[in-house]
Amino acid sequence: MPNFNHGGYGRQLAGQRQILDFSANINPLGMPNKLIANLKKSISDLIYYPDVTYRALRENLGEYYQYDPQKIWVGNGSVELIFNVIETIEAKNALLLAPSFAEYERAFLKNGSQIDRYHLAESNDFKLEINDFISYLKDHQSIDCICLANPNNPTGDLLNKYQLRQLANYCNHHGIWLIIDEAFIDFLDDQRNFSFVQELQDDDSVVIIKSLTKFYAIPGLRLGMALFPNHQFVNTLMENCEPWSVNAFAAGITTDVLADPDFSQATFTWLAAEKAYLEKNLASLKPIKMYPSAVNYYLLSCPEINLYDELLQRDILIRNCDNYHGLTTGYYRIAVKSHSENVQLIEALEKVCGVEN
Ligand SMILES: Cc1ncc(COP(=O)(O)O)c(C=O)c1O
Repeated sequence: MPNFNHGGYGRQLAGQRQILDFSANINPLGMPNKLIANLKKSISDLIYYPDVTYRALRENLGEYYQYDPQKIWVGNGSVELIFNVIETIEAKNALLLAPSFAEYERAFLKNGSQIDRYHLAESNDFKLEINDFISYLKDHQSIDCICLANPNNPTGDLLNKYQLRQLANYCNHHGIWLIIDEAFIDFLDDQRNFSFVQELQDDDSVVIIKSLTKFYAIPGLRLGMALFPNHQFVNTLMENCEPWSVNAFAAGITTDVLADPDFSQATFTWLAAEKAYLEKNLASLKPIKMYPSAVNYYLLSCPEINLYDELLQRDILIRNCDNYHGLTTGYYRIAVKSHSENVQLIEALEKVCGVEN
């Protein structure tokens, strides 16, 4: 059994126990009602194979994200597309941020790529400085593919689209593929300045990967998409993909389910309030350092106390980040959850840190 080292295994861990799972960053509002209704309707489609070209789904996604559906491909979660895209690119020398999402490395290693790591500095809150990054690329000319998450996971650091354009231009001119994973970007109230989707041009050597998992709270449904700069890349990738990897439930998702302003607004309202609550309360817990995050999770450091063990004894699961490249023992990631759950987390952390109320 490989060690996948991810968050979100609260249910497996729990057995008979009730575990509060802060290790996976899923929207606590749960699935939108419109989506539940849509899934129920799709039950009757299960007796058919899904359309192997996923035309309707790609059109719906294209309409929602305002991108040419013929330059979109879908996958069984964005992780499948990460593997498919990396397989298609055939990079010799990939560059990854450290820390960042672990599956990029597995995908590159599977394809025999050599991996270099660009270490983000703790002293700079693990922020990526785009000019320094481009300077690094100038000094490492063998790099032919970069895969980064925007916002980054586990740090929550966010690049804006102008910084990404600067990087994309460098990549275009130096034969480098840039993969931008926007798995968490839907949690931003205003994506316009951050998502690269509306920036993507035919001649960019850029692929954007998106996920419906986190925002729509459907880790078990599995639906992700890749947006390509041109048709050639999509066609090559489609030729190499297994058929029907997206199931009929996911394939039946319609534009009105995705574009649900009430659900989006409720999510943004919850997130703003709970981020403020967590930031205020964590700031007063002295042994813990909280790094700035643009989205629905935070990286913490606490070298003095084993927060993972201490919280698990109190039936709270957080993500132990000691196995990320670029992090060591004493780093953790917490999700932003519902108010009552966040209160339980803060109360438990106060006890663990010896704060008396
Ligand atoms: C940055 C990032 N990208 C992609 C994924 C994969 O998401 P999914 O395959 O559920 O779409 C994850 C999951 O944790 C993630 O953190």
